[in-house]
Amino acid sequence: MEGRLLARARARQEALRADNRLEEARRRAEIAAAIPEINDIEIRLRRHMTELVGLALGEKGRGADALEEENLALQAKRAALLRAHGYPEDYLAPICTCPLCRDTGWRDERICECLTALYKQEQTRELAPLLRHGDETFDAFRLDYYSPEPQREGQRAPRDQMRTVLAVCRAWAESFGESSPNLLFTGAPGLGKTFLSAAIARVVAEGGAGVAYDTVTGLLGAFEREKFSRDSDEQNEAASRVRQLMSCDLLILDDLGTEMPTVFTQSALYTLLDGRLRAGKKTIISTNLGYEAIAERYGAALASRLRGEYEWLEFLGRDIRALRKERG
Ligand SMILES: Nc1ncnc2c1ncn2[C@@H]1O[C@H](COP(=O)(O)OP(=O)(O)OP(=O)(O)O)[C@@H](O)[C@H]1O
Ligand SMILES: [Mg+2]
Ligand SMILES: [Zn+2]
Repeated sequence: MEGRLLARARARQEALRADNRLEEARRRAEIAAAIPEINDIEIRLRRHMTELVGLALGEKGRGADALEEENLALQAKRAALLRAHGYPEDYLAPICTCPLCRDTGWRDERICECLTALYKQEQTRELAPLLRHGDETFDAFRLDYYSPEPQREGQRAPRDQMRTVLAVCRAWAESFGESSPNLLFTGAPGLGKTFLSAAIARVVAEGGAGVAYDTVTGLLGAFEREKFSRDSDEQNEAASRVRQLMSCDLLILDDLGTEMPTVFTQSALYTLLDGRLRAGKKTIISTNLGYEAIAERYGAALASRLRGEYEWLEFLGRDIRALRKERG
């Protein structure tokens, strides 16, 4: 699990606990007004608690058995009163959102399902900019947008090529793990690179791995704020985003080549991609650039890493954004 997201999931659980305490207080006030006799019972139950604590500390008093017996009688009376006024018997009992772990998030030193569920929600929220349309799944990936005829001599027909690309991506997502290769999607605009990235992200995140998505421009923005921001909150936020981008299990880095090239951006990108390679973390890069253009823009060191350590998938066809417009 990824620390930043886990911290957010825990904060949400903490908020649920606080809501439950508020609701308990509200119910006590409601019952105090509706059934005044219950106040008396509550006060005596509380006094018994104090007495029990005193007994445990060695003070003299009634025996614990007698107290216990009286407690049960008081509790039965409270339940009967609640019922008589049309409330559930346990209306004044502590409220837990998750009875399995009593809202602690842990069961037998393992993470409880409720916290895992909150964590998954945080992860999906994190991917929201990528998954916002909701329909980018492998099953929704249409091949009929791609021509069955080769566009250029000696090239595969786009539809054949994209059928292969789709199959590779689907298998890659389903078997995501340590031995997965990195992927590089290259091709002209509007050919489904971001679409397939989203389909992969969904499947891999559902499998429980930490997935982050960003455009190169967005990522460089975080690097810049971490390094140059004068606002310490902004700087901390950026630093934790950078840590996540550096260390998540799968990073989807979109639109390589659209950022403003500067010495800073070149070196930040190199550091990130080289660091992830060393750590064995997987990356998917999308770009409109081919190998030559990448080498020219980013230099031989980065280009050769991308060539040697990434499986390149070439996207072919005609801009689907334009096709859709034509077809109306
Ligand atoms: N195979 C497909 N089936 C259905 N819709 C698709 C397919 N490929 C792309 N689209 C849709 O076409 C549009 C462009 O696709 P996408 O954004 O994935 O292109 P891209 O290759 O990432 O382009 P760019 O290089 O400009 O970022 C999107 O609305 C996307 O949902
Ligand atoms: Mg794209
Ligand atoms: Zn739980």
